[in-house]
Amino acid sequence: MQQTPIGVFDSGYGGLTVLKEIKKRLPQYDYIYLGDNARTPYGNRSFETVYHYTWQCVQWFFKQNCPLVVLACNTASAKALRTIQQNNLIKNFPEKKVLGVLRPTTEIIGNCSKTNHVGLMATNGTVQSQSYVIEIEKFFPDTTVVQQACPMLVPLIENNEFENEAADYFIQKYLNDLLQKDDKIDTILLACTHYPLIKKRIEKFLPADVSVIAQGEIVAASLNDYLQRHTEIETKLSKNRSIQFYTTDSAEDFKNHASIFYGEAVDAKHVEL
Ligand code: DGL
Repeated sequence: MQQTPIGVFDSGYGGLTVLKEIKKRLPQYDYIYLGDNARTPYGNRSFETVYHYTWQCVQWFFKQNCPLVVLACNTASAKALRTIQQNNLIKNFPEKKVLGVLRPTTEIIGNCSKTNHVGLMATNGTVQSQSYVIEIEKFFPDTTVVQQACPMLVPLIENNEFENEAADYFIQKYLNDLLQKDDKIDTILLACTHYPLIKKRIEKFLPADVSVIAQGEIVAASLNDYLQRHTEIETKLSKNRSIQFYTTDSAEDFKNHASIFYGEAVDAKHVEL
């Protein structure tokens, strides 16, 4: 019987940190992961380009029979999701669902801060979109959100250069810039799915009373909740506990890198979009 998996998407490897948590929470489903490694990073690209790339990838998931796609990429969620939901799906794919990582995070992040001052580390694209600031304001109007673009972090992480002095230099620089803008910050949200890999290194440079929040578990919990509320989607999903990995770049490279993000070895196939 043909599978109807949940699609999980990222510009590269970062979404694997989210998939890992989703699979832990919801192991019964089938999953397909696609990393657009040939065109990563998305972080410095224009709205039009991020939308164009993301929509192309989402359509690929639809061809693989995915009733539901999760954009496990903040940049794509911030810059492309709304257009996809409001234009493409309504007109051409009303039976499909595409979800992002922004909403689940913005719904709860205000509860994590005692000072009501939240810092955000993200790509240029996510910061420029202002999406987090706008969305958090809706749920937590008393919370101040201060953003820090960290454009060097995704390239360092994608190239496996995140456990050295060069990475520490940029981590420290971005943290200093962030905390200089607001010294009341007690919660830092990692609003990029690549950053969980450097969570410990970030914490190393922070006082103990500042907590660092990664999104994986938050997104997994929210997806669980969504599927319980949307049985019309849940019942369409096949449940054979399978998982397939695809990349738009070299499958060999993907196999060599993916385990750092996913926590276990994976097999991968190359795909032409
Ligand atoms: N993992 C993506 C995110 O969450 C990285 C974006 C990029 O490709 O720069 O924003």
